[in-house]
Amino acid sequence: MTNPTDDNLARAQERAKHGRQQDSGVIVIRAVAMPADTNPAGDIFGGWLMAQMDLAAGNMAGRVSGGRCVTVAVEAMQFLRAVKVGDEVTLYATLIKVGRTSMRIHIDVWARARYDTNHAKVTSADFVFVALDDDGNPRGFVEDNT
Ligand SMILES: CC(C)(COP(=O)(O)OP(=O)(O)OC[C@H]1O[C@@H](n2cnc3c(N)ncnc32)[C@H](O)[C@@H]1OP(=O)(O)O)[C@@H](O)C(=O)NCCC(=O)NCCS
Repeated sequence: MTNPTDDNLARAQERAKHGRQQDSGVIVIRAVAMPADTNPAGDIFGGWLMAQMDLAAGNMAGRVSGGRCVTVAVEAMQFLRAVKVGDEVTLYATLIKVGRTSMRIHIDVWARARYDTNHAKVTSADFVFVALDDDGNPRGFVEDNT
């Protein structure tokens, strides 16, 4: 016979999982959309989401290149659904390509209502980051590529 405490823990652990964790990359940011981030209609402002995506990609770019990086391009962004105040927003990052000084990082954003278990994809885009040296010039970061 199973211990009810163990069952509760197992159920809670199941709820704590995010269904897209393996498919959509590494969770880099998980945030709650706040009232200060709304547009005049009361939905979350797209610019807030774009900033979170830039932060998420920048986080991965910094880890990959081991130093200062800058966004040089953002490609193919579409907003698929609105984000509401209180939604939990999760940003997943996948490193798609590295060049000599650049990295292409795909960001997927999923959201769920605060007390719901269903989540839906909100947007995605590719961010290109360039590693920079102290003088702000492109910096080779992969040993074989420098
Ligand atoms: C990033 C920056 C230093 C690159 O300078 P640059 O003269 O274009 O440098 P390069 O031509 O050597 O390109 C560097 C790398 O970026 C890539 N790149 C440059 N522009 C790109 C673009 N629009 N899309 C995709 N990749 C691009 C190049 O292919 C190259 O990649 P690789 O070294 O891996 O082959 C310069 O464009 C810059 O400072 N931009 C402003 C960035 C910024 O301030 N971002 C924040 C905005 S608030």
